[in-house]
Parts: sequence; structure tokens; C-alpha cells
Amino acid sequence: MKLARRLSVVEPSPTLAVSAKAAKLKAEGIDVVSFGAGEPDFDTPVHIKEAAKKALDAGATKYTLVEGTVPLRKAVAKWIGDAHGIPVEPGEVIVSSGAKQSIFNAIFALIDEGDEVIIPTPAWVSYNDIVKLAGGRPVNVPTKAEENFQVRVEDVAKAITPRTKMILVCSPSNPTGAIYEEATLRGLAKLAVEKDVWLMTDDIYRTLVYGDGKFFQPAVMGADVRAHTLIIDGVSKAFAMTGWRVGFTVAPKAVVEAMATIQGQSTTHAAAVSQAAALAAIEGPTDELEKMRVEFDKRRKVMVARLREIPGVTCVEPKGAFYAFPDLSAFIGRKTPEGKKIENDVQLCEWLIEAARVAVVMGSAFHAPGFVRLSYATSMKNVEEGVRRLAEALPRLV
Ligand SMILES: Cc1ncc(COP(=O)(O)O)c(C=O)c1O
Repeated sequence: MKLARRLSVVEPSPTLAVSAKAAKLKAEGIDVVSFGAGEPDFDTPVHIKEAAKKALDAGATKYTLVEGTVPLRKAVAKWIGDAHGIPVEPGEVIVSSGAKQSIFNAIFALIDEGDEVIIPTPAWVSYNDIVKLAGGRPVNVPTKAEENFQVRVEDVAKAITPRTKMILVCSPSNPTGAIYEEATLRGLAKLAVEKDVWLMTDDIYRTLVYGDGKFFQPAVMGADVRAHTLIIDGVSKAFAMTGWRVGFTVAPKAVVEAMATIQGQSTTHAAAVSQAAALAAIEGPTDELEKMRVEFDKRRKVMVARLREIPGVTCVEPKGAFYAFPDLSAFIGRKTPEGKKIENDVQLCEWLIEAARVAVVMGSAFHAPGFVRLSYATSMKNVEEGVRRLAEALPRLV
């Protein structure tokens, strides 16, 4: 079969081997603690589900406008505007089928063949691939654990070329949980204006912030920055609504219109019932959201503290999202009790499933080999038991 050439630019996800192995063991009845999840373990709050059921009976079964329903666009404009203290008009909002589609549409609307998108790493797996699918070139700028995974503005400045079209940042970050400092984001925004490139901020985890972590949205800096910024947001992570597939973009009207053209020729719009649910989520009470955040925070503290107790493991404190990203590079190059050398983080993750019955995601999937990502979007019992298993298994590598 001859597939389209564009498929050749997308790499098969290295996480698949590990998740397939975990699924196989689970199917055999073997108890595996999985830290792989990229979604809250909580169910969507009841009042949101009830609103969706009512909406179905009231006729949310038909096409809506491509950009999203009028009430939802208005509510999103208010929700995001209020969150950052900036005026947002409904015409600057487009609703898509998940934040992933928001990012996809934005990149397809703005990136031409050969255009470069600067993406600091470690980074979420999909950014590079979406840019490549659009014919663009991802330019990864590495950050360091010793610097709390903060990107250096001067490194981004150095990476800018005449082909640069966009800087794409994610704070709080998947996979590191790092939150970019205000000074960093201000520096990036100034750079974007100066060089006349887009700044896309993926704010999907913005409500999941802990301790002294402080979220900053650079669009507050003024009209110049606003004119260069695309804000990606959504309900998936904050409201435990991953399966509903609703994401938001706030951008200059011309960008919203271009994204609507792309969306209008693909999915048309996010499902009508999901849009009704998202409306109930962002207009409704926030106590459930806060309960989930508090619970994530408790697990975060336990996970990080226990990981740090394991000799050879270092872990930067994650301040947002629901991931810890410890450095396990000390174990690469060591041998298993059976004498097999662990050559890289993929093999380390495979061994951890076999020997410790714990599934984690290899850092190389996020362009950070030697690290692993653990999601604490799982019960406290799993957090305690899973890290206990790691603590027992890792010293067996010599
Ligand atoms: C950083 C980041 N951005 C965007 C998304 C996509 O979110 P959604 O489920 O709303 O498409 C994810 C989901 O894993 C994510 O981790």
C-alpha cells in the first residue's frame, strides 16, 4: 500500500512499546501500577454531566457554528479574559475538538512549508509532529533540570532565523511540571514582538498550579504582545473532561478566521453536546476543580519526596500539571541481575515494567533521554505503591 508522503515525517511514538507491554501484562491479570496517564483519574463533575444530558434533550444534536456556539464563545471570552485580566471578544475565540486540535489548526493556519517553530524541550510529544505534518521544521531548544527547566530567552533568541514563524511554549509543562517564570515569558513575548513571530502559549494546565508556583500569561503585557499571541486553553485537564474533546484558542480575529477555514474543512466543530458541557464547566462552580487540584497536590508531594529518597534519582520539584520528571540517567549503562545492559531509557522503562511492574514514560518521547515521566493522576495508593516498587527495583541495577 502506498501511503501519503507526509506520514513519513511522523515518528511512531516510543511510548507505544511500553504501553503495549503494560496492557499485555494487565490482560494476563498481572498487577501493574501505571504512571502513564495524561488525564485526570477523576470523573467529570456531576453538574457538568447533568448539563450535557439536559442539553441533549433541548436539542444539542445538530450542527453548530464552526467557531463554536454563540453562548460558549462568549463564555470562553469572559473566562479567559477574567483569568488574565484582559478584555477578550467572542470574535477572538474559536472552539475546537480538544486543545490538540486547537494547536493543530493554529499551526496549519500559520505555518508554511519550511517555516520554523521554536519549541523548548522537554516538550509534549505532539508539538514537533504537528509542525512536521504542516511541512514546518521544529527547532528544539533544550532546557536543563538544574535550571528548573526554564528556557533561556537568549537561547531562543539565538535560535531565531529569517524562517522562524512561531515560538511555542507550554507552562505548566507536560512533561516537566515546570512553570515558566514571569520574567522568562515577558522576555519571550518581547522577542516575539521584536522579531514579528507568533508566540503560542499552551495553557491547558494553567489551573493546576501548586505551592509557590505562579502562572503568567504574557498577553497582559499590551496590544503589541496580544497581536502576536495565540492562547491555547481548554477543559480537558482542569475539569476532568478529556473524552469530551473541547479546546479553545484566543487569537487575533484574522487568525481565528483562518483556523475556522481549516476546521470547517475537517471536523466542522466540536460536538454540540460537548460544547454545552464545556459551557456548564466554565460557568459553573469551581469547588470540584479545587478539590481535584488539592488532591493532585497531596500526591505530588508524596511522589516527589519518595522519588528523591531513591539513591541515584534526582527530581526537580514540579509546580504544575500532574507530572513528575525525575532524572534516571544514573541507571543507564548499568546491568540487570540477569546481566543485561540497560542501553537507554526505552530499555529502562521496559525493564521497570517487567521487574518492578511499574509503567512510566521514557523521557526520550519528550526529547529528554535519561528522564522518565510519572503521572500522579492516579490514586494515592498507586502513587505510594508504584514509587515503593521503583525504590525496590532500581538498586538491583548495578
Ligand atoms: C501539553 C498539552 N497540550 C495539549 C494537550 C491536548 O489536550 P486535549 O485533550 O484538550 O486535546 C495535552 C494532552 O495531553 C497536553 O498535555
